[in-house]
Amino acid sequence: MAFSAASQAKINPFLAVGPRRPDGYHGLVTVFHSVALREDVQVAVSADGMDHLVFTGPVDASALDVGADNLVWRAVEAVAASLSAARPALAIEVTKRIPIQGGMAGGSADAAATLVAANHVLGAGLDRADLLTLAAKLGSDVPFALVGGTAVGMGRGEKLEQFAAPALWWTVVADPGGLSTPAVFAKFDELGAEHAISAPSRGEAQGMVDALAAGDPLAVAAHLRNDLQAAALALAPRLSDTMSAGLGAGALGAVISGSGPSVVLLSASEVDAARVAEELRSAGFAAQAVCSAGPSPMFSVPAS
Ligand code: C5P
Repeated sequence: MAFSAASQAKINPFLAVGPRRPDGYHGLVTVFHSVALREDVQVAVSADGMDHLVFTGPVDASALDVGADNLVWRAVEAVAASLSAARPALAIEVTKRIPIQGGMAGGSADAAATLVAANHVLGAGLDRADLLTLAAKLGSDVPFALVGGTAVGMGRGEKLEQFAAPALWWTVVADPGGLSTPAVFAKFDELGAEHAISAPSRGEAQGMVDALAAGDPLAVAAHLRNDLQAAALALAPRLSDTMSAGLGAGALGAVISGSGPSVVLLSASEVDAARVAEELRSAGFAAQAVCSAGPSPMFSVPAS
């Protein structure tokens, strides 16, 4: 039996980061927002009794490790740990459309979709709450990758408060470089060393929450914030050119997504986003216009 599950890319229109906690993570308050760039994960019982993991699709994944450390296999083992017998060998195919190490949670999307597909194929019978618990163990962004849509994220990103937000139009600019999330957080610590950083409060996200809930692109543009941006720019200074090029092409706002290096631009309409993307592509950037995406139909979390 084969089962396919999908998970969307995320952007962070708002990301306030506090000091490093004793467990090594940073407490944060963020707003996660799904955009229509999708990973598909197909899981099947393997015909030859061996585990296989292959990546296909438009994003080149040839540099990815397909061994046991890959989040896909860690998600499989997390589901299999609930079985009373050993799991069968699996053949897994990931269709990759989210930039790798781009700050758009591509690896987390793979883990989330694998949790859902492996749960079906292995007949593990895990419910939504079980899968959310496993997701949080796999990574800070994996619970959101499971539920999708738009949500405030707290804790280290795993505590979610979903809310409804009309679709907006964005342009995503992938960067060929890739940035490591721990390296960007370490740079954030280094840059913040001279001035005390206080833990962000939920209230700081309210302006962005209201703007997104109203579907008001000008208000969303006015509330864009990413506390990791200075660290990402320190590690990859060329990204400020990408942001300037986007604003020069008519975007309402520009922000680095999560730990970067993908740059996200906001437009007032599909036509405007297409124009921004086209102008950036003609200047040599890997830009594409994308619409916001709704929650995963299987995994909406009740508002708290
Ligand atoms: O949770 P995840 O495994 O995706 O995190 C990768 C790394 O990013 C962590 O090991 C940590 O260095 C950093 N991180 C952090 N604070 C967070 C989330 C991630 O410092 N809230």
